[in-house]
Amino acid sequence: MKEALKVLAIFIMILGFFATGVIAKKGNPRKGKYLFRTKCRVCHKPGVTGKDAGKVLEPLSKTQSQWKRFFEKNKHKKRPDIWEKFKPEELNDIYTYLYEHAYDSPQPAKCH
Ligand code: HEC
Repeated sequence: MKEALKVLAIFIMILGFFATGVIAKKGNPRKGKYLFRTKCRVCHKPGVTGKDAGKVLEPLSKTQSQWKRFFEKNKHKKRPDIWEKFKPEELNDIYTYLYEHAYDSPQPAKCH
């Protein structure tokens, strides 16, 4: 009986971890690539002018730790309004794509 309670307690703890997102789920880089191309590059590509013009960004524009810092700390602080339009899962997918193709990753990539 005691054993069963222990198992139950551990099970509930694991569920709790998942529910609170303590175990961060890896995003989907294919979705991330699509989202980055269609939603971020609108502003971050060559030839964009005006108040929405961001600098040209490719996955290889930053190192893995720079992308990490950007998504965890900076959170697009120059234009927080834009960040709020994305769902957490979408940002996680975009982050995964950028991180996996960062400047110091095994496969640095441009966005094309
Ligand atoms: C409506 C236009 C717009 C959209 C959409 C947009 N950004 Fe930006 N972004 C900006 C502007 C403007 C800045 C501030 C100027 C700059 O630093 O490029 C900025 C800044 C940044 C910076 C800091 C640049 C640096 O290296 O200092 C990063 C990184 C960035 N954006 C990433 C993203 C990502 C990732 C997405 C998609 C999830 C995104 N942006 C969507 C306009 C946009």
